[in-house]
Parts: sequence; C-alpha cells; structure tokens
Amino acid sequence: MMAHLWLFFNLFIATFLSLEILGNAATCRDCFIHSRAAHYPNSDDNGTEIGRCGYGTFGATLNAGDVSAASDLYRDGVGCGACYQVRCTNSNYCSDKGVTAVITDHGSSDRTDFILSRRAFGRMAQNQDAAASLLALGIVDIEYRRVPCSYPNKNITIKIDENSNYPHYLAFVIWYQEGSKDITAVQLCETKNYICKLLDRSYGAVWTTTSPPIGPLSVRMLFSDENGEETWVVPVKDIPDNWKPGETYDSGVQVTD
Ligand SMILES: *[C@@H]1O[C@H](CO)[C@@H](O)[C@H](O)[C@H]1NC(C)=O
Ligand SMILES: *[C@@H]1O[C@H](CO)[C@@H](O)[C@H](O)[C@H]1NC(C)=O
Repeated sequence: MMAHLWLFFNLFIATFLSLEILGNAATCRDCFIHSRAAHYPNSDDNGTEIGRCGYGTFGATLNAGDVSAASDLYRDGVGCGACYQVRCTNSNYCSDKGVTAVITDHGSSDRTDFILSRRAFGRMAQNQDAAASLLALGIVDIEYRRVPCSYPNKNITIKIDENSNYPHYLAFVIWYQEGSKDITAVQLCETKNYICKLLDRSYGAVWTTTSPPIGPLSVRMLFSDENGEETWVVPVKDIPDNWKPGETYDSGVQVTD
C-alpha cells in the first residue's frame, strides 16, 4: 500500500513538473534553443540542387542561398521551407543577428540541428575574416528560433515538377510561402464542380497525384500553426488545364503569419 502511494506521489510530481515545462515552452515561442550547426562542403556554396525537400535547382538560389539541411526539424518534409534565425555563440566571431536560413534538405552531422550552406554559415560572422575563421571551425555552437519567411513581391507559387507527365501524373512543389506556419495538407480541386482530392506528400515539399482532374485546377493548402490551429488557404488564380512540367504558376495569394 505504501509503495502504491509512493508511486502515485511520484507520478503526480512528474506530471506536475512536465506540465510546468510545457507551460514554459508555450510562453516562450520566441526563445532561442541551443544546438550545433555544421556547413556543407565547398561545392555547395549556395545550398544544394539535390536537397531532400525536392526544390531542385531552386534550392540553390532560394533565399539568395541562405539555406540549410535540418535533422529533426525536417519533420518528414513538413519542415521544408520553414525559416530559422540561426546565430552562433562565439563572441569573437559571431554577430548578434546571425542569419535567417530556409530548410531545403535533410541531414545531420555530429549532433547538429542544421547543416548550413557555406554562404549562410559565413553570414553568422561579424565580418569576412571572422567568417573564414568560423568556416574553418566546421561545427559551432548556435542558438536558433523559428521566424517568418519573407519573399518580397512574391506570391505563393506552384512549380510543376519536371517528372510530371501530362495529363496522367502531376507532381508539384510549393514555392515562396511567407510566414511561419506549416503546410500540412493539400487538396487539388477541379474548378467546375469543385470536386477536390487530398494529395499525398511524396517526400519533402513534393505533392503528387496520379490521374489529376481535367480542366483548370485549384491547389488548396492547409496551414497549421504551432498551437495546431488550421486554416485552408484558397488561391485566387488557377493552374491552367494545359499545365506543363517545369512551369511555375502564380497562386495569386500570399500568407503573412
Ligand atoms: C551564390 O549566390 C550569390 C547570390 O545570389 C551569387 O552571387 C553567387 O554567384 C552564387 N554562387 C554560386 C557558386 O552559385
Ligand atoms: C500576387 O497576386 C495578386 C492577385 O491576387 C496580383 O495582383 C499580384 O500582381 C501578384 N504579385 C506578384 C508579385 O505576382
């Protein structure tokens, strides 16, 4: 009996403590989290064209090359396109502001959360000399937090993947999502009767369907925030019925938060 009571008491304390910790986390959404960051080898100065988010060549120019691979933050592809402020903590080399990097790839090094492009890694430094020293260190202590992405003068854009095969197979990637929410589901609707189907995330930021509807198409996106609040965003511009692999189509909408 005593043993049971004791166990109960411990469980109670444990529950109370974890609630307390959750409470702190919830009130601290802008707090920085401590971790480590590495950088890509030389050849990937501006990020990578083969990143696991499926951005292709876009992945090497996105956010002017301030991009990163993430390990846990990749979240099975949901983390693709998320933006993080990452700053290193060595006061000899590092600026207060750090760099804002977009997740375009999946990967981890020695206990790192980020593998930054060399460009992004260097941009955490106070100046060019410091950047060289920082790059030479290879892996550094950092702190990071999620921040809104910003793509001035861009609407959310649908890029039809080159592997698509009109009209039998449609794959696309969503570019230029601003704000700090996740796209957790996508519906493809034909615009005559508004019959929609939920798409599969094939990997990273790539959404696919076999036998897509005929006619102009509307891509609806479910945005989720960190509290689980969900909103469907409906584009104002459609993908034309004669869509082509490799083309990009402006959705006519953008999100701000
Ligand atoms: C990296 O991006 C910058 C800015 O967009 C560009 O000036 C530079 O030529 C790029 N470097 C490579 C190796 O692609
Ligand atoms: C974004 O979409 C709106 C229509 O919703 C359009 O007027 C505007 O030109 C678009 N912006 C860009 C940069 O294409």
